[in-house]
Amino acid sequence: MAHVKGQGGVGLRWPRQPRLVACLAAWAFLASLVCLQRSGSAGSDCQRASGGMQEAAASGGGTAATQPQGSVAGSAQPHRQQQQAADEWPELRGLSREKVEALIRAPAGLHGRVHKGGLPANYMFMMAHLTDTDAHTREEGIPRFFGPMMYQWFAKAFTFDKTAGQSNRDLQSPVPACHFWADHKYKLLYVRNFKTAGTSISLTLGQKELPMYCSVWPDSCAKKCEGKQVCLENVIDPDKLRQLFQQYTVFSFVRNPWARALSSWHHVHKLGIHAPCQEPFERWAELPSRYGAKCLGIRNCCKRRFGWLLEHTEPQTTCLFDDQGQPAVDFLGRVENLDEDMQELVQLINSRLDAGVEPLKVGELPRFQLARQDMEDQEEARWRYYSEFYANSSTALQDIRNYFHADFDLLKVPMPAAGGGS
Ligand SMILES: *[C@@H]1O[C@H](CO)[C@@H](O)[C@H](O)[C@H]1NC(C)=O
Repeated sequence: MAHVKGQGGVGLRWPRQPRLVACLAAWAFLASLVCLQRSGSAGSDCQRASGGMQEAAASGGGTAATQPQGSVAGSAQPHRQQQQAADEWPELRGLSREKVEALIRAPAGLHGRVHKGGLPANYMFMMAHLTDTDAHTREEGIPRFFGPMMYQWFAKAFTFDKTAGQSNRDLQSPVPACHFWADHKYKLLYVRNFKTAGTSISLTLGQKELPMYCSVWPDSCAKKCEGKQVCLENVIDPDKLRQLFQQYTVFSFVRNPWARALSSWHHVHKLGIHAPCQEPFERWAELPSRYGAKCLGIRNCCKRRFGWLLEHTEPQTTCLFDDQGQPAVDFLGRVENLDEDMQELVQLINSRLDAGVEPLKVGELPRFQLARQDMEDQEEARWRYYSEFYANSSTALQDIRNYFHADFDLLKVPMPAAGGGS
């Protein structure tokens, strides 16, 4: 049963995929041509990386003969003196640990009741991810629909080389990370992202299991809704969702992207990627989606399907804004203000009740099973530890700011005053 727990999540097996592997090999070849054109100094790393990818593809990926270490050789220590120039934030340089902590604890500037615009940007494309039923591609987490876009991203991410001046700005994978959950009594649509308190929220409100679980164990499908007023169910039908986006109270919870990135990195190390393929935070921050690419190119790296790794390293705003940059939701709560914002959401929900529906009541959300004082002490220690990852690095704040730029910009995440220094 454990494998059904993760969002969308079967996928512990690795079926052989001759067609997929052939495509990857082709892209690896193209990528190595691109590598040859790059600056001479970085060429050898680049070739080694794509060589590893070809090797992985040629061996069918899943065989024990493919040693992760061999291919990871491409990820030799980058030369820090050659940074990209185009997208730097000087105000993020040289901050004290205390300033870093304030920065990564700051909640989003955009929150609460917002004006709902249109459907999420690239709506049909996003839906293709949820609705593709081809068993093989689904297992890999690569909908057929994505095809070339996926391979292009893969080749670029796998051979990414920051020291050659490449930017991570547009190297997010095309796989959108969100999932949709609806309750029909209170007319709610919850757009759920990873590492944004989703478990607390859905446990508190009440949520059914995923449909594939429910089809196998119908009796325990709605167990987590027992005693709850709300019972969220997973929705993947594009037409139905289109309707719910217009008619229901659509909400999501968002989190400071710097803190979320650290949380993702920890989580993926615990559950998604084997130790020899793990990277120090500073290195990972150069290109978070590279873990997904690594997992696909070097199968021995993965504990989960590679789509799972991608889902945990993607921006949180992809499904929350329309193509004009307007919110696609009615309400944005903040993980940093979970209880207060949940109460604000409950007020909004209760202001829109259908006749005869009792007002919704939600208590405090669960976080740690600890006494409050212990919890607060532990929280403070965790924040000191978290902030060191960024304060100890001259590049991580910038790299995460750059990769998750959509989250920072759309959610109006506070930045330090320009020229502030430490
Ligand atoms: C940051 O650097 C300090 C001093 O070198 C070290 O004690 C600490 O463990 C480092 N923290 C992290 C999270 O790397």
